Amino acid sequence: MSNLNQSLTLKNGRIIKNRLFKAAMSEQITRGNKPDAAYAALYRAWARGGAGVLVTGNVMVDYRALGSADDVVIEDERDLDLLKAWAAAGTANDTVLLMQINHPGKQSPKDLSPQPVAPSAVPLGGAAAAFFNTPRALGEDEIADIIRRFGRAAEIAEKAGFSGVQIHGAHGYLVSQFLSPVHNIRTDQWGGSLENRMRFVLEIYREMRRRTSADFIVSVKLNSADFQKGGFSEEESVLVVERLVQEGIDLVEISGGNYEAPAMMEGVKESAKKREAYFLDYAHKVRAICSVPLVITGGFRSQQAMEDAVAGGEVDLVGLAKPFALQPDFPQRIFDGSHHAIATPQPRTGVAKIDRPLGSMLELNWYMYQMKRISRGQAPNPDKSGWGIFFAMLLAQGKGAFRRERA
Ligand SMILES: Cc1cc2nc3c(=O)[nH]c(=O)nc-3n(C[C@H](O)[C@H](O)[C@H](O)COP(=O)(O)O)c2cc1C
Repeated sequence: MSNLNQSLTLKNGRIIKNRLFKAAMSEQITRGNKPDAAYAALYRAWARGGAGVLVTGNVMVDYRALGSADDVVIEDERDLDLLKAWAAAGTANDTVLLMQINHPGKQSPKDLSPQPVAPSAVPLGGAAAAFFNTPRALGEDEIADIIRRFGRAAEIAEKAGFSGVQIHGAHGYLVSQFLSPVHNIRTDQWGGSLENRMRFVLEIYREMRRRTSADFIVSVKLNSADFQKGGFSEEESVLVVERLVQEGIDLVEISGGNYEAPAMMEGVKESAKKREAYFLDYAHKVRAICSVPLVITGGFRSQQAMEDAVAGGEVDLVGLAKPFALQPDFPQRIFDGSHHAIATPQPRTGVAKIDRPLGSMLELNWYMYQMKRISRGQAPNPDKSGWGIFFAMLLAQGKGAFRRERA
């Protein structure tokens, strides 16, 4: 029997039936900010497919602060019935369903945010800079309001029937901006020392705990590092995990990178890419200081690499995103012996002038297109061309197609 088919019991007593963890993928399968019936259909397919845990794409806490025009947003209970249908579909087949909760901070594209908010008024650098306006620094009251919004979203997620939530603390969004000494240059209690920079994520965690029951899972996705000069480092990241574990966090998922240095999509070192698991070395370091249930996400494609990671003892669950958009039932296939590896294409047009600035957006949209097909009961189409997606983006969004999408 594959070691991926062993259950894992969390400290709050919740049982995860196997070690396969579907990481968050922003779905954007319908227009607008509501999780309509397409969401339930997509998660029904994934729950049937056999994963132990499904994490939703990021759900935003403020209509004024979106990462993409079609993000799901929760501010209040106006969509409770839709959320209930989504939760019922995603928890079928004994599946643990976590809602990822996020605020984009400065990573809210130009056409959605004339002036986004951030810990400090530090603009994004690198190739991504052209897609985002310079942010303004949040005031103390606004920080408190955002913390409350994260808590409120968790409370509503529990009411709707989700098994738990995941704070999106990775990939350069607001929580990760607070953690980074490059993006957070505040001189008050929210900036400066690591203790101050981690206050935001700790307060969000506490607010979520305060508003939910003891057996509701509260977890976090954190960067192992930002891979930026002077940015959030591995050493700091390990210390943040240690603190969150002391506070009682149920599960930690590790990724890395941001829009300026997208390690989550591309990996970092050649050796890590070959081994598939991008962030395994970091997992060793966390294991050395605590035994919190740990997930690493990024790069897993073969059954062998997944089994090796679990057998090595550094990680408890194997996180995968793109493979789930191409083979929603691959966990089931692993367990019945018919799956061994999956290739995840990087679709492009082949025209450098398009691919250089827009390649990563094309890729994200290609995977969203696959999720849309699954939500309609269709099989994914791995042969869909990069050009097909490019024209669909133009048709759907016009000039807005050139806005930056998330990961
Ligand atoms: C279409 C798409 C959307 C994504 N949206 C999110 C998201 O909302 N939140 C998040 O934490 N990561 C998001 N990611 C990143 C994945 O969770 C994951 O970290 C990354 O794809 C690497 O894992 P993989 O190699 O198994 O795909 C997204 C990735 C893709 C392809």
